[in-house]
Amino acid sequence: MEDEEVEKIEIRLLLEALRQRYGYEFHNYAEASLRRRIGLFMSQQGLQHIAQLIPQVLHDREFLRSLVNSFSVPVTDMFRDPAVFVALRETVIPILKTYPFVTIWHAGCSTGEEVYSLAIVLHEENLLERCHIFATDVNEDSLSRAKAGVFALEKMVAFAENYQNAQGRACFSDYYHARYRFAKMKHFLNKNIVFAAHNLATDSVFIHPQLIMCRNVLIYFNDILQNRVLTLFYESLDRGGILCLGRHESLRFSDVERFFQPLLAEERLFRKTLTC
Ligand SMILES: C[S@@+](CC[C@H](N)C(=O)[O-])C[C@H]1O[C@@H](n2cnc3c(N)ncnc32)[C@H](O)[C@@H]1O
Repeated sequence: MEDEEVEKIEIRLLLEALRQRYGYEFHNYAEASLRRRIGLFMSQQGLQHIAQLIPQVLHDREFLRSLVNSFSVPVTDMFRDPAVFVALRETVIPILKTYPFVTIWHAGCSTGEEVYSLAIVLHEENLLERCHIFATDVNEDSLSRAKAGVFALEKMVAFAENYQNAQGRACFSDYYHARYRFAKMKHFLNKNIVFAAHNLATDSVFIHPQLIMCRNVLIYFNDILQNRVLTLFYESLDRGGILCLGRHESLRFSDVERFFQPLLAEERLFRKTLTC
């Protein structure tokens, strides 16, 4: 049997162990990315075969947590793709301002950089006080870091440049306290944010927001899981609510495509039709 065939069997067995023992669902993650993540984890652990992960995962909770965290890709930035934040200011926020209170679901928030960026924009547009933001992710370590709101000071230079390109209105350093090699985001930015664990592959809808942001998450899922998640967003969103996806993500070929209108197609902003 070819090595690749054996590897496929091992991955299937590993995912089945995760499902049966803990209810974790990774079967519909994009195969190439999953294989890359597992390979990286094995070389960190000094293991040769994927099957060697199975007994450890079944019996060692700490090992399980590291493996599950290694499946998620916590790469993120503040004001990543600044044009999206300009579009939020110019196109989305005027719509949100028509509501007395606004609920926002930020799905796949990773270590929080993106949700703090959104909070800054909402603050500058005088809307933050009226917003409740639910920031969720499957990776609990990332969520703890997001909650702490502490980032490496050396990253702030690049973040400040993104902020300027996103039409930031103030001086970026007004939003954090610098101490030693770290920057701690100011408390007023996260006082309306609830950080919580939520798994897009298995969990259901829990709020009815006017805006869902979920960028650079669907790219790690196969078509089946993408469809599940987009249906979840459709069911969750308020009528007329807005969905913001990542640059390389779309609603195309999903079951719910027909229930959305493009709001700003190039920035992947879609609006749930008012009639459904
Ligand atoms: C590349 S990051 C994107 C972060 C941020 N949205 C951005 O665009 O900068 C992908 C995030 O998706 C999260 N993720 C992966 N699978 C998930 C799932 N099943 N449910 C919820 N979040 C998931 C990962 O933990 C990771 O934090």
